[in-house]
This record gives sequence, C-alpha cells and structure tokens, in this order.
Amino acid sequence: MLLRHSAIRKRVRDVAREISRDFSGERVHLIGVLKGACVFLADLIREIDLETSIDFMAVASYGKGKESSGQVRLNKDLDSSIQGLNVVLVEDILDTGLTLSYLCRILMERKPKTLKIATLLDKPSRRVNDVKADYVGFTIPNEFVVGYGLDFGERYRNLKDVCVLTVPADKSD
Ligand code: IMP
Ligand code: MG
Repeated sequence: MLLRHSAIRKRVRDVAREISRDFSGERVHLIGVLKGACVFLADLIREIDLETSIDFMAVASYGKGKESSGQVRLNKDLDSSIQGLNVVLVEDILDTGLTLSYLCRILMERKPKTLKIATLLDKPSRRVNDVKADYVGFTIPNEFVVGYGLDFGERYRNLKDVCVLTVPADKSD
C-alpha cells in the first residue's frame, strides 16, 4: 500500500482549497480524463467551494498493459465549448506526460480563459514531454500503481487506497 484512503482524502481537500482560493469568486469547469480520474474528480468537486461545472474526455494510450503505446487517441470529446471558461483538467496520474501534453494542446486551441492541470499523482521520473501540473496530490516513485480510479487492465479501480502493483515472477520456464 502506497497511499492510504485517509491520507488521500486529506490531500484532496487541500488541493480543492487551493483551487477554491485561486479562482475565488469565479466558476471553474472541471474536465475529467476518463476513466482513471473519475474517483478523484468526484471527491475533489465536492470539496470545491465555488460554482462548478463538469465535462469529460476519454483517451486511450495504454492498452491493457503497464506500458504506454506512446500514442494518444481521443475516444470521447467534450460535450460543450470551453471558450472563456476557467478549465481545470483533472487526471489520475501524470506519467510520461504524453496524454496531458496532447490534451492541453487541443484544449488551448478552444480558447479557454485559463487552463490548469490537477493530477492526483505525479511520477516525474518518467517524464518524456515537458508537462507541469498546477495542482499535484502526491509525487510518487516510479512504480505502477492501482486503486482510487487507477487500473491495471480495467481492474482495481475500486480500491480505496493507492497500491503498488507487483506482478509475480513468471515461473513457467
Ligand atoms: P502518460 O500519458 O504517460 O502521462 O500517462 C497517463 C495515463 O497513463 C494515466 O491517465 C493513466 O491512465 C496511465 N498510467 C500511467 N501510470 C500509471 C500507473 O502507475 N497505474 C495506472 N495507470 C497509469
Ligand atoms: Mg488508465
């Protein structure tokens, strides 16, 4: 176990407070990156003390394994325009940065008033593209983690804690 649910809850509250302070008196439009960010977004938005709205995008970069394919595909686009809005892009984890640099590029073209990144987890050691998050829950070492929305082949998203996934050694040979 890497991060206990109680610690996550506390940190999510702090991040929500930062967002509420930074956008004081304004509306924030949260964009969740499906599917991993759904748990984080659901907890985060309930701690934000501002007018909010939500939209979602879905991307695929990983396939079923632990390694990114290096290519990002947009599987679901936003329902509505973000022009003139304070957008906070909500991600589960910032790893190589390929997903978020791709998303930021296409979102900036749509002329939001501001675009910020909130990520629950940051694995800076894996960065390929230079992306920096404005709000980071936890900076973690280079381990593959699951739980609190994060999956391995669609499994384990329902775990309350964030856990390191250890795959047993292959004993077949
Ligand atoms: P990036 O494009 O390499 O930054 O990867 C971002 C996406 O990869 C995240 O939204 C996750 O879905 C997935 N990912 C990266 N690292 C992990 C991990 O440790 N556990 C589960 N998913 C991960
Ligand atoms: Mg994923």
